[in-house]
Amino acid sequence: MNKKDVLVTGGAGYIGVHTIVELYNSGYKPIVVDNLSNSSIKNIKGAEQILNDKITFYQYDCSDFDQMDKLFGEQINIEAVIHFAAFKSVEESVREPQKYYTNNIGSLEIILDLMKKYKVSNIIFSSSCTVYGSPDILPVNELASFKKAESPYGETKQLCEKLIDSSKTNSISLRYFNPVGSHKSGLIGDCSSDKPNNLVPIICEVASGKRNSMKINGKDYDTDDGTCVRDYIHVVDLARAHVMALDHILNNTNIKTAYNLGVGKGVSVQEVINSFEKINNLKISYEIGPRRVGDIEKIFSDNSKINDELNWFPIMSFESALESAWRWEKNHKKILKKDSN
Ligand code: UD1
Repeated sequence: MNKKDVLVTGGAGYIGVHTIVELYNSGYKPIVVDNLSNSSIKNIKGAEQILNDKITFYQYDCSDFDQMDKLFGEQINIEAVIHFAAFKSVEESVREPQKYYTNNIGSLEIILDLMKKYKVSNIIFSSSCTVYGSPDILPVNELASFKKAESPYGETKQLCEKLIDSSKTNSISLRYFNPVGSHKSGLIGDCSSDKPNNLVPIICEVASGKRNSMKINGKDYDTDDGTCVRDYIHVVDLARAHVMALDHILNNTNIKTAYNLGVGKGVSVQEVINSFEKINNLKISYEIGPRRVGDIEKIFSDNSKINDELNWFPIMSFESALESAWRWEKNHKKILKKDSN
């Protein structure tokens, strides 16, 4: 069987590399491009180890038209693009908004132009539940309108979805809720050079001793235990959804849609810490701090659209996500230590 070629931008990143593994295991041939500015070649090596095969990899920058033009010119069998490559720090986007607008929107424009030039008509876009801002109704479904974005990062996700909608390509935007966990091998994960800002990576740093303690950002919210509520989804379930979206887009015409990608269950910050301690048999040192600016009190998904239309359902447990997150933290630390010797 001829494998279908799929261009995966940002494929050395956390979600990208998990998607490469699922794509390959489902019979696709991922062609990976990543400038490694906030990811690592270690993820590509890890994926190669898991798959026991070489991955086609270009260290190019998606915001460089000439480099991407060369790639599209060489890889003439690309049937679809999965576009992950983007800056992703909410906090940095507030400090350096221009960097986010220029890179995140600029690179998508280049991809769309080159898709037109090389007649590639399918794109899957890595979006976020941040497009909803603070929703009026929970669980939030895809019909909810975009509220004012909480950050320039969030605004770039809204603008990118609009840009794709106004293009002539078949498209699916996947709106991720909170991805957590790692592949069970512990060989791939989040290699960002950014200091982690997300909850589970921070818990892992406290567990490993990299940080002494952490703060719960506010315990006075109108939720059961006073801490914020999110919808945590195992990154492998998230990666599987990309394959299903790809199958769908390649087997249908005139697709232009968006899907929520969450488990559909709200879990509080306090519950995440408690579960992590229980599953990994560890104590996490934390204190209650003030609210974090821009945080939404509560958000979780209505995932019935992707259940009904793509037959996607989460199959990985929250417990396995927290266990694999900790496994990755330990392995990753070992790999870094080995490299520095
Ligand atoms: C954030 C982004 C979202 C992005 C997502 C992916 C915002 C508003 N949203 O989601 O757009 O797609 O990351 O990475 O920034 N927390 C603590 N202590 C900590 C760290 C986090 O209490 O040390 C709390 C946060 O305040 C929040 C919850 O944990 O209530 C989850 O935070 P985080 O993992 O950063 O994700 P989001 O903020 O939901």
